[in-house]
Amino acid sequence: MTARPPIAMLAELTHRCPLSCPYCSNPLELARIDQEIDTETWKSVFRQAADLGVLQLHLSGGEPASRRDLVELVQAARDAGLYINLITSGIGLSERRLNELDAAGLDHIQLSLQGTDAEMADQIGGYKGGFKRKMQVAEWIKAIGFPLTLNAVLHRRNLHQLPRAIEMALEMGARRIEVATVQFHGWALKNRDTLMPTREQAREADTIVIEARARLRGKLVIDYVPADYHSDYPKRCMGGWGTTGLNVTPEGKVLPCHAAETIPHLVFDNVKETPLHKIWYEGSAFQAYRGTDWMQDPCKSCERKTVDFGGCRCQAMAIVGDANAVDPVCIKSPHHGALQVQADAHACAEGQDLIYRSAPGKPVPETVE
Ligand code: SF4
Ligand code: FES
Repeated sequence: MTARPPIAMLAELTHRCPLSCPYCSNPLELARIDQEIDTETWKSVFRQAADLGVLQLHLSGGEPASRRDLVELVQAARDAGLYINLITSGIGLSERRLNELDAAGLDHIQLSLQGTDAEMADQIGGYKGGFKRKMQVAEWIKAIGFPLTLNAVLHRRNLHQLPRAIEMALEMGARRIEVATVQFHGWALKNRDTLMPTREQAREADTIVIEARARLRGKLVIDYVPADYHSDYPKRCMGGWGTTGLNVTPEGKVLPCHAAETIPHLVFDNVKETPLHKIWYEGSAFQAYRGTDWMQDPCKSCERKTVDFGGCRCQAMAIVGDANAVDPVCIKSPHHGALQVQADAHACAEGQDLIYRSAPGKPVPETVE
């Protein structure tokens, strides 16, 4: 398949993060600060991305505000002509720093929401005082006038807060809310027994989103990632492998999706050694599942094969142990029935504690000025 240029690039500036969300999709083995690529390399990556055709740059992490050079990086991305979105928990952002980011050319902020009150949010984020600080940051974002998307990750513990999350998006002046049911990659796999929504919760969330979309048309856009373990067809992961986007890790590895390193036979190029253009068009990891040539049945002969591209390769790897297999969420997968039983079992598990990357209740750190 001849690849088209990517539209979006996710730059994972760092894996450092003040929160410890139990559904973190970052790899189990996090990049250390001394492994992170430096400011000049990121600037070069941004220029290369723009030359390659990337339009949108998503600055992510970990917590991207943990990088002291964040303002300089935003300025460089602006100079390269990219539209820049900052994906943040808000922790580590002061009013002064937000004004500097505004002056440097930041276009948009995506603020994560772990819960709609301090009790829930601080427990899920593993960070005492985090909710209060996030609400303060939301006020500064509104006052400066950044276009805002609220990103609410939902699971069994907080799905009942969905209506309030939608109200909060309106109160914050957000133009969009992303309602994302937790996806089980990375650390999240350890917490399936605690976080898996029940089938009833998943259906209720569907209903709430349908009603809110109709009621708020023209006021608030609602993006929705449903609970796919309870679905009959898989999501079109990453818009199709090697089709629309690429991820760069804190160490400079270029991945077709954030969880691609869980597929053991793939080899990833690094921006420190290989130009981004060459990685996108010729890199073996990008070629591996681009298009439909790699497919076997049932996907190969399926009428939906260019709709969902066989679903998520990383989910096939995690659950079936074979990244070439049809996503087990799909009703045509021989593993679909077992997955549904497994999802219900996770959803019914009781008395489990959340497993954090590090001890919850860390004190609120100083903001980076
Ligand atoms: Fe998608 Fe493959 Fe299932 Fe068809 S068989 S719906 S292409 S995952
Ligand atoms: Fe890797 Fe879906 S997360 S293909």
